[in-house]
Amino acid sequence: ATLIGAVVLLSYLLGSIPFGLVLTALSGGGDIRRIGSGNIGATNVLRSGRKDLAAATLALDALKGIVAVMVAWIMCPPELADRATATAAIFAVIGHCFPVWLGFRGGKGVATGLGVVFAMSPLAGAACCLIWFLGAKITRISSAGALLAFSAMPFILFFQYGHSFTDSAKPLAGVLIALVIFLRHRENIVRLLSGREPRIGQ
Ligand code: G3P
Repeated sequence: ATLIGAVVLLSYLLGSIPFGLVLTALSGGGDIRRIGSGNIGATNVLRSGRKDLAAATLALDALKGIVAVMVAWIMCPPELADRATATAAIFAVIGHCFPVWLGFRGGKGVATGLGVVFAMSPLAGAACCLIWFLGAKITRISSAGALLAFSAMPFILFFQYGHSFTDSAKPLAGVLIALVIFLRHRENIVRLLSGREPRIGQ
């Protein structure tokens, strides 16, 4: 229980590092929350006109998720590994979406979600990245790609690890992560449904 508690805390703290906000501020771009959608993620950093910073935000937000899951895996004995990595995956995304440093108003969990899913299952992670990339490329809307990818993600994990949560906690983690991401995309969903969601580069 103490080990899982430490995993919760560590992965939350790792997830809560707001790379988009920090990188934009450090490069003299001001507060990213005052630009575009106000989000701290890579899509919104791109709206500030800095492609390089957007790419770095995407990579680092994903990487902190991968690191959180790997740290959990290293910290815990093999019999706890499945539960610990699934817990780390959930809390890294929660840390990104609800960081204590920003009054619990953080990002939307897409890059970090892709990172943690990749770390739990490279196959599911690669599939998610592909759906996200193709979805965003075809629709030219970042949130549409993300919502497509994270709709499919729990099903991919169920297919891989089965429906019994006692066998693996990964599919349950997938469901919770998808729920958090959908919750954080409420405004995007309203805009998508009314055809007002901006396209990439707009
Ligand atoms: O990566 C988050 C994306 O799905 C939506 O971001 O800034 O368009 O609300 P944004």
